[in-house]
Amino acid sequence: MKRILTGIKPTGTPHIGNYFGAIKQAIELSKNEDYEALYFIADYHALNTVKNPELFKKYTHEIAATWLACGLDPEKVMFYKQSDIPEVFELNWILNNITPKGVLNRAHAYKACVEDNKNKNLDPDSGVNMGLYCYPVLMAADILLMQSNLVPVGLDQKQHLEITKEIARYFNNTFGNFFVSSEEYIPESVGTIIGLDGRKMSKSYGNTITLFGDEKMLRSQINKIVTNSQTPEEPKDTDCAIFKIFSLFATPKQIEEMKEKFSKGIGWGEVKKQTFEVANSLLAPMREVYNYYISHPEEIDKILENGAKKARQIAAQTIGEVRKLIGKE
Ligand code: TRP
Repeated sequence: MKRILTGIKPTGTPHIGNYFGAIKQAIELSKNEDYEALYFIADYHALNTVKNPELFKKYTHEIAATWLACGLDPEKVMFYKQSDIPEVFELNWILNNITPKGVLNRAHAYKACVEDNKNKNLDPDSGVNMGLYCYPVLMAADILLMQSNLVPVGLDQKQHLEITKEIARYFNNTFGNFFVSSEEYIPESVGTIIGLDGRKMSKSYGNTITLFGDEKMLRSQINKIVTNSQTPEEPKDTDCAIFKIFSLFATPKQIEEMKEKFSKGIGWGEVKKQTFEVANSLLAPMREVYNYYISHPEEIDKILENGAKKARQIAAQTIGEVRKLIGKE
């Protein structure tokens, strides 16, 4: 059976960009009977940015509750925390030793920091820790340890998947053909999710809509979507943030009706009201499940422990083979 794996790092409260950009597709795929699915919380990847223990715990529970609220079935999917799989960190170290430093010099996140430092006349590596620099190797360990065939990710992770394949090739060339080739799965239909200000929705731009905030928060965030100063009567262009956000939640029929209203003229206040309605009717039932888990963190922990037990069986098998290949055993 083919194996499908993905992870999300818990670095903030989940927003609708996380849902429509990644989680939704991953949940759909997990229902496919042809795959064995492993979905995990990349908590030790998040350590790079989250250095507050309370927040670290909070974000981890929030991401777990989010996956469960979005429909992840822990009976069907092995759902675990990366940090509960010690084999990940053993493989990480082994992979460090066959990964050329030059490969990591070219990684986007690291390169962006270096560029930024240069522009500010700082030392090129200022503020860069080894967690950031070696991030792609840990990610390769997550993927290769589970001999994953397919990895559903957002476009921003494409280079990480390329580096994973490269590392697998170096290992196979050095120690013998062992790791399978892990292919990224980036559904074309998932474009960029637009934020309140019309730019890509991102925590770093502060333009997000919280996925499971309460109704009041949802309404107030939707009201902040930037619109132009056209009067209600004027026909409007659908190429704008509010229409795109509306369309994420609406049915094809509702989208057609809204297009019609745009061409005839509709007030922005009315569009925002209707956007809240469609968003809330999709999110409300999921929000209930989310809130249930947030107030029962011990249930989340139990689910994750169970998932880790199952995933460690695969991990043990892989690491056993790897130890033999490198001559440890
Ligand atoms: N880098 C991913 C992110 O930023 C998280 C991640 C860690 C991941 N390990 C992975 C994704 C393995 C897919 C497969 O969210």
